[in-house]
Amino acid sequence: MEDVLTLITMIVLLLLAFHGFGKCSSDLYSRSDFPEGFVFGAGISAYQWEGAVDEDGRKPSVWDTFLHCRKMDNGDIACDGYHKYKEDVQLMAETGLHTFRFSISWSRLISNGRGSINPKGLQFYKNFIQELVKHGIEPHVTLHHYDFPQYLEDDYGGWTNRKIIKDFTAYADVCFREFGNHVKFWTTINEANIFTIGGYNDGNSPPGRCSFPGRNCTLGNSSTETYIVGHNLLLAHASVSRLYKQKYKDIQGGSVGFSLFAMNFTPSTNSKDDEIATKRANDFYLGWMLEPLIYGDYPDVMKRTIGSRLPVFSKEESEQVKGSSDFIGVIHYLTALVTNIDINPSLSGIPDFNSDMGESINILSMRSVVSPWAMEGILEYIKQSYGNPPVYILENGKTMNQDLELQQKDTPRIEYLDAYIGAVLKAVRNGSDTRGYFVWSFMDLYELLNGYKSSFGLYSVNFSDPHRKRSPKLSAHWYSGFLKGKPTFLGSQGITQLHSNFSSSR
Ligand code: BGC
Repeated sequence: MEDVLTLITMIVLLLLAFHGFGKCSSDLYSRSDFPEGFVFGAGISAYQWEGAVDEDGRKPSVWDTFLHCRKMDNGDIACDGYHKYKEDVQLMAETGLHTFRFSISWSRLISNGRGSINPKGLQFYKNFIQELVKHGIEPHVTLHHYDFPQYLEDDYGGWTNRKIIKDFTAYADVCFREFGNHVKFWTTINEANIFTIGGYNDGNSPPGRCSFPGRNCTLGNSSTETYIVGHNLLLAHASVSRLYKQKYKDIQGGSVGFSLFAMNFTPSTNSKDDEIATKRANDFYLGWMLEPLIYGDYPDVMKRTIGSRLPVFSKEESEQVKGSSDFIGVIHYLTALVTNIDINPSLSGIPDFNSDMGESINILSMRSVVSPWAMEGILEYIKQSYGNPPVYILENGKTMNQDLELQQKDTPRIEYLDAYIGAVLKAVRNGSDTRGYFVWSFMDLYELLNGYKSSFGLYSVNFSDPHRKRSPKLSAHWYSGFLKGKPTFLGSQGITQLHSNFSSSR
């Protein structure tokens, strides 16, 4: 009898495993499980990678100024990508990337932000794009990734002034005209919501404006500028998108998108209050810009709470903004627990984005928490709330300490990427129109909030070496294997194997 039971148990287990219900086999997937046309890439941004900040006619951006005034680590040399781009494209090709995301430094291409083109800047981007194309890698280009030209900031206050719409459109026109024969994917603004909150509400990222006492901001008004800048970003994006449709789309056949930092918000308890607070957090963080892009106006809860401090779209503007994004770029790192609090006093005594939103948000650290369900949740939320627009995950990845030795053996990064790419696959299988995934970052960079203390790269960069030597980490081998068709969910056995192959190849 016992033998029969054992036999039945074994048969059931075998059947479960065969049907993919066992832990390992159910999570096993490969590149070919993704729909045809789904692209995989990795990314960097100009200021974080290029260096050469005062070479060949480049002039400062607000990011240069922000760091130098605060005497922080800076991107003066960064990865020296400006000089090493050919070597880097070679690495991208060896890794097997289909596509590469980078941004253009506006003040390298047009030194003062408007007016004449800097010929050497133009040549650099032409060469870089040419090199990518030669290696069969599709360029995905962002026009604005924090490094706004300082000249325009000083001239009229940058994004706080509507004059920016004209200058941003003229800059985009140059990019479309000069690079559009090879570039088919354009993102106007990198994570517009967090750029605005960090730069104009909290003051902890460039250009560092806010009105909090003791925050090192010399100028700014967190109560109003956050919303004015958000509004101008949307109008500038819409203007660029219209330009592309009118002048370039028929000939070049590309698309223009907008990107947002998408946090996953989860109620901290199952109380009705926390559930409502979570909806409010989604409306403030995502809906603030997604709702105008998809439906033409701000979420009601924002209009009610912020009142006259929230700019109003004219009928014509609303029509221009609505439908102006061919795809939504999702940047995802964080998951947060939301607790309702009835009154959220602002630190400065005047209302700001955080007090307007009015809840307590406990961000679970991006270092320790691997929560792939959060990625799935965001993609499902965008699908359900915004009519399932085309989505590209433009950034996702794991930060680790900048310790070269440890960094090479970055198995936690592999586990992270494996889980998150798997989550994207699940979302796609559930009907999300997600079309691509980019690891942040291709190599270690000057990091936005941490300088050189931590990094996200698949390749390490030795920042103490004048030649900025690049070396593949385990995660680069893993990603490359995945892109070349190896099934993933390696499990600990696979990782150990990868580890020993790596050690013996050094
Ligand atoms: C930014 C990147 C940054 C990354 C990691 C993103 O929000 O777009 O520039 O390096 O976060 O901090």
